[in-house]
Amino acid sequence: MGKGKVYKIGVIPGDGIGPEVIKEGLKVIQSVSERYNFSIETTHYDFGGERYLRTGETIPDSAIEELKKFDAIYLGAIGHPDVAPGILEKGILLRIRFELDQYINLRPVKLYPGVWHPLRDKGPDHIDYVVVRENTEGAYCGIGGYFKKGTKDEVATQLDINTRKGVERCIRYAFQYAVKRNKKKTVTVVDKANVLTYSGDLWRRTAKEVSTEFPDIKLDFAFVDATCMWMVKNPEWFDVIVTNNMFGDIITDLAAMTQGGLGIAAGGNINPEGVSMFEPIHGSAPKYTGKNVICPLATISAGGMMLETLGEEEAAKTIEKAIMKATGEGYIKSLEAGKMGMSTSEVGDLLSKFVKEV
Ligand code: IPM
Ligand code: MN
Repeated sequence: MGKGKVYKIGVIPGDGIGPEVIKEGLKVIQSVSERYNFSIETTHYDFGGERYLRTGETIPDSAIEELKKFDAIYLGAIGHPDVAPGILEKGILLRIRFELDQYINLRPVKLYPGVWHPLRDKGPDHIDYVVVRENTEGAYCGIGGYFKKGTKDEVATQLDINTRKGVERCIRYAFQYAVKRNKKKTVTVVDKANVLTYSGDLWRRTAKEVSTEFPDIKLDFAFVDATCMWMVKNPEWFDVIVTNNMFGDIITDLAAMTQGGLGIAAGGNINPEGVSMFEPIHGSAPKYTGKNVICPLATISAGGMMLETLGEEEAAKTIEKAIMKATGEGYIKSLEAGKMGMSTSEVGDLLSKFVKEV
């Protein structure tokens, strides 16, 4: 058998438990690649808190250019207890999202069989949708400042920018995704158009215009506060949610809890025309570092999303089936750190075995 396709992957294990979960993710990708006759060539980068504390550097400019040349990027977690909030997040994670123009943050919300979750009366049939989060603008743009800082009259501003181009490409991606998913064929625009009337209006007008290109897809609108309620009460209403950067950040932590916790929630920072980056949506969980107790399924699942984007759809489906076997047939007892009934590396071993069988 030939070597098949070779994908070049930039790997950023990052801080805390990042390296532990990335190791298991790569193990599973390696295993599934043998079955489907492709291979990955990885280049590791040590960006993160330790490097910053040592050198004062988050990412060198040259590395940004290098990252643009990979087929995809695989990221563990960024965040260090000894570094002030914002430095690593803005310097590494947001910088890559922005400079590689990864304008979609795609976050599937799917409850797998056998997973404990807090919604009584809801099961895998009810919790299966995706959040398409705008990923390069909104309140994340970093525009703002202080006036009279440190005085009693202090003012701080933080601008929420919504460009027609940014909104339109995000909404169009959501519609295309609803077509591809072929489930409830609904796009729900989540906003706060009853208060944020200018940006809300831009999103709604744009959505109505874009929707004319997709006559088979239903367009729906919901306010973000009510959406939080429905995500708990009637999650089965949702198919594809599209929303701005900040609302998308907030609702996907809630969504993660409804799918069993941050141990399983994965995401992709997607540039449909460029290089995308895949990561678990959890953070670096410093207190669990080096203990081999954290659940690697979110990172393994993010690896599956990465393979799907690279065009290895069978391999991606196999990873998902392997996760469903591990949770649904009781191999993994809980997704909580230390309660899985096995270690981080044992979960990786199990999944590596399953991707050869399912
Ligand atoms: C996420 C994270 C990041 C975000 C932080 C770490 C900057 O919470 O990926 O959801 O807010 O986007
Ligand atoms: Mn978040």
